[in-house]
Amino acid sequence: MEEDILDSEQKEEDKDNSIRPQALDEYIGQSEVKENIKVFIEAAKMRNEPLDHVLLYGPPGLGKTTLANIIANELGSNLKTASGPAIEKSGDLAAVLSTLEPGDVLFIDEIHRMPRFIEEILYPAMEDFTLDIVVGSDNNTRSIKIDLPPFTLVGATTRAGDLTSPLRDRFGITCKLKYYDEDELRMIIERTSRVLNMPIAHEAAVSLARRSRGTPRIANRLFKRVRDFALVEGLDEINEEITNKALGRLKVDKAGLDETDHQFLKAIIEKFNGGPVGIETIASSIGEEISTIEDVYEPYLLQNGFIKRTARGRVVTKKAYEHLEIEFQDRLFF
Ligand SMILES: Nc1ncnc2c1ncn2[C@@H]1O[C@H](COP(=O)(O)OP(=O)(O)O)[C@@H](O)[C@H]1O
Ligand SMILES: [Mg+2]
Repeated sequence: MEEDILDSEQKEEDKDNSIRPQALDEYIGQSEVKENIKVFIEAAKMRNEPLDHVLLYGPPGLGKTTLANIIANELGSNLKTASGPAIEKSGDLAAVLSTLEPGDVLFIDEIHRMPRFIEEILYPAMEDFTLDIVVGSDNNTRSIKIDLPPFTLVGATTRAGDLTSPLRDRFGITCKLKYYDEDELRMIIERTSRVLNMPIAHEAAVSLARRSRGTPRIANRLFKRVRDFALVEGLDEINEEITNKALGRLKVDKAGLDETDHQFLKAIIEKFNGGPVGIETIASSIGEEISTIEDVYEPYLLQNGFIKRTARGRVVTKKAYEHLEIEFQDRLFF
């Protein structure tokens, strides 16, 4: 289910590659990450060496894939892409590695989903640019070493904690992407509006930004849906009124919470008296995957104080009750 959602969004994005920033200067927000990467890229170029391996982590839609592309662009290198779950056999990874040319950037998306035994092939590749492969079969095997050209691995993950420490330790540069603030999201929306050639009024952009869950992918998606409503109504600029109307239809509330967020919070409130309740129990009661809740929904709700994590499970906060206009009853715990 999670994959279906991500896949369809991915496809929509591929169609609209024009809205992906191509250079570091067009990449809005994440200033600390950007400044550091800029320095490391410049230094690598001055030394005429490949950039150290980079691990990008953070919730979906915050710009990991975009940044991987930008890193390759800024280095003037080719980008080769692989995806953790798609690498099933050691041969799959060996095949990708053996196509690398000097200075290439190899992007492995969802690197935490790569099987452990395959991870081990990456260690010597990352450290010494060598590929150790075992050839032959049964009692007649031998291992051969193949030299790889110097390259940069960029790994992306929504869960840095799911990486084994030997793999994590082999990344010289680790960047944590954060949720974007309202102003940054507004700038992203205004940029998308320019690229897609559909003007948006300032207040409308602010209102969209506020309801984008801190996430550029959501900001862009909402922008496109609002644009549809504006088009059908014959508007040549997106205004606040059409924005509010569209977001109402899309069931995105004033805080940017959508139907699943509401289901999640209400399940805890109505079925478990506000919590604490374990993630497995909530997941099965609303019919969502645990990983989707943990990666997509919870981080934003936690960060914005709608829920809390306790040793005994998730607890809905007073702020969430107020937001949902449900009477808050003080609990004994917390
Ligand atoms: N810093 C940014 N500035 C402008 N647009 C961004 C930025 N980060 C992400 N985006 C937009 O958001 C969308 C999702 O970003 P993506 O890199 O695919 O996220 P992730 O790989 O982390 O899931 C992209 O289409 C891109 O256009
Ligand atoms: Mg991505």
